[in-house]
Amino acid sequence: MYSFDLNAPLKLRIDEIQKNEFVFLKLSTELNSTDESINIIFDSLTKKTDRLFFSIDNLIDFPHIKEYEAKFPIAWFGVPVMVGSNQQGFNSDHTVYSNIDSLSLNLFDAQKNQFTDQQKVIPEFNLSGNHYQLGPTIVEFFDRYKLPFAFLKIEGLPDMQQVQYFRETFESLRIKGFKGKIYFSFNNAHLDEWNIKTYNTFSGIQTVHLDLSNKCTHSCVFCGLWGPEFIDEMKSRTDDGVLRPDVVNFMNRQMPYQRAIEILEALPDTVKAVQFGGAGDPLTHPQWLNILARWRARGFKVEVLTNFEYPSKEELDILHELSQGRRNFDFMINVSAATPEVYKIIRPRQSQATFEKVIANIRYSRNLRIRDGYGLTFTMIHIINTHNFREAVKMVELAHELGTGVWLKPLEVHSDIHKKYTIPKEDYPLFQKMMKQALLRADELKVKIVLREFLEAIAGDI
Ligand SMILES: C[S@@+](CC[C@H](N)C(=O)[O-])C[C@H]1O[C@@H](n2cnc3c(N)ncnc32)[C@H](O)[C@@H]1O
Repeated sequence: MYSFDLNAPLKLRIDEIQKNEFVFLKLSTELNSTDESINIIFDSLTKKTDRLFFSIDNLIDFPHIKEYEAKFPIAWFGVPVMVGSNQQGFNSDHTVYSNIDSLSLNLFDAQKNQFTDQQKVIPEFNLSGNHYQLGPTIVEFFDRYKLPFAFLKIEGLPDMQQVQYFRETFESLRIKGFKGKIYFSFNNAHLDEWNIKTYNTFSGIQTVHLDLSNKCTHSCVFCGLWGPEFIDEMKSRTDDGVLRPDVVNFMNRQMPYQRAIEILEALPDTVKAVQFGGAGDPLTHPQWLNILARWRARGFKVEVLTNFEYPSKEELDILHELSQGRRNFDFMINVSAATPEVYKIIRPRQSQATFEKVIANIRYSRNLRIRDGYGLTFTMIHIINTHNFREAVKMVELAHELGTGVWLKPLEVHSDIHKKYTIPKEDYPLFQKMMKQALLRADELKVKIVLREFLEAIAGDI
């Protein structure tokens, strides 16, 4: 979600907005409605996104609102609605009972009437006084006007009493099974803290993880699905020595394209980040690029867990363009080797050329980033095992050369047959030393180490 509150400029750049990104616009109080710059703002924003929300503090300042409505494809208009102006409520058994604030309905109707397309008008609730009316009034608004969503305006840091009010309101709505989408006004600098204080059930999900594909062509020895020994082990458990059909089905399972888009469309604008990962490689999905592009267009931070062998130069060019925006487009690449020789040992069914291809893909994208000043960001994952722990320093040096971060990730044992890849006791002192050296080298070269504190704990006080 993008916020242009021109009274509290957030230094956001219009050219960073993505096509389907929700943009919240509130004009500076100093701007006059006859000011030509308003036209320029509407024009540039509606050319960037078809999901512009124009928040209006006072409709009296916009006597010609219908002209803006006709001239620019503004998706929604937010109007202020005071709630809690009269009547007493009472509180019993953690459930709040009260009457609807009918004045707020009148206030909203009066403002809606000033628009041509009244479906586009969205209330921005502002609590005044009696908070017992807020919950029932919200429910009535959603029922009566079939609202797609609404805003709750909370200016600045709420005091303890307000926190308590909102906590009670949200709890009573939750008990009633209310499912409407309510967003807080996000020009509140303390929004995250406030969400926690109120146990806010309506702030919405922020991070999503999606598995597109169980397929993978790599053969990482430690993999709990595609590891060659793991597959042999599964075969050995059947009478005829072939994989069971349900296992084969599982290994080939992919999310239908339409499903990936339906999930995307159902997500609220509170989402900030998505990770594509899972048991297989997301880039084995036949429509992976299209899916990533659609998700990226919502303005999310996108993180992809992949071996990064598959993209062609043309696809890397497209990914590079999709990286524009204020949130990162990050590839977490499972390399697990700093040299082609060890790469081949880690992946018996791949060749050393595969390693060269992966490194060339990262290098190519890195060069685009240097050229344009924006681009994909990368983290190389080195899943530490008996074959590769001696390469930790080399991995850091490779990361430095390629401009990536490094995650020296401890091996998870997914099957008993993989236990042999964990560092044996007698090598543990050497392993600790290697991790310590890798950390020191990363400091020298200014390479970012993911979850550094875990490695520091492993390295101990050597
Ligand atoms: C199963 S992989 C699938 C994605 C992709 N094919 C890849 O290799 O990165 C998902 C994530 O788990 C990590 N991973 C795989 N096997 C692991 C293991 N035995 N221990 C720790 N991490 C592992 C990979 O680095 C990757 O980030």
